[in-house]
Amino acid sequence: MALNKALIFLGPPGAGKGTQAKGVAKEYGVPHLSTGDMFRDAVARGTELGRLAKPIMESGGLVPDDIVMGMVEERLARPDCRGGFVFDGFPRTLPQAEKLDGILGRLGFGKPLVLDIEVSDDKLMRRLTGRRTCSVGGEIYNIYEHPPKSPGICDNDGGKLVHRSDDTPEVVNERLAAYHRQTKPLADYYQRQGVLETVDGAASVETVSRALNGVLKRTLKPNGHLQIAG
Ligand code: AP5
Repeated sequence: MALNKALIFLGPPGAGKGTQAKGVAKEYGVPHLSTGDMFRDAVARGTELGRLAKPIMESGGLVPDDIVMGMVEERLARPDCRGGFVFDGFPRTLPQAEKLDGILGRLGFGKPLVLDIEVSDDKLMRRLTGRRTCSVGGEIYNIYEHPPKSPGICDNDGGKLVHRSDDTPEVVNERLAAYHRQTKPLADYYQRQGVLETVDGAASVETVSRALNGVLKRTLKPNGHLQIAG
């Protein structure tokens, strides 16, 4: 199935962007581009980018726009992005969204399709403090809602499950504040462009996944063009 466009997963920390975006990218055979994963990888490798991003991520703030844009542009230049891509956690500010519009135009992709997963703040704290992620394959678990069969071990590949250092209650509160201040306004920005679709993220993973698939089937023509764009 051809995608030939950019999909953007929008939503607060813990909304389920990563959980859902990975499956959608796999289904369309395009890269899953998580700026959070890219920064965590840079931190783990101890690169200059990682050294810069680490304290910002640990405080729950956002990495400066010019740094994010440089990293994203470099990633989009790779050949595997020619058939489209799925963004998870990007864009996150108005300047990032505006710059992305220009990049997509230059790449010939046109307007993105934006999938906004809505979940109220009170549910997000439990989801984030309970999250565990496989250090090998990246599979996402939750000790309350979706635990692994053996504690601390990934069902798929036996990898060690890790707890993200920014998933503490204090940092989650800062991340939520940053989301409401800097990222939530993007919903209006994309709504005005006629490319925003909102999905209720409070339901089960399977229900959210079905809702997203319904949106994708309804809005994407076989050539990847949008039906909803005005
Ligand atoms: P990033 O890694 O993008 O974190 P985030 O946006 O805070 O999102 P999360 O990964 O925490 O949540 P998610 O929505 O993917 O939820 P998930 O599917 O894992 O960013 C980290 C940091 O990097 C930022 O704070 C910032 O510093 C920096 N950064 C990244 N991008 C940037 C950018 N563009 N600009 C500037 N700075 C940037 O699910 C969460 C949990 O809930 C899991 O346990 C899961 O199992 C569970 N769950 C999922 N769906 C459901 C469901 N339907 N029902 C019940 N449980 C569910």
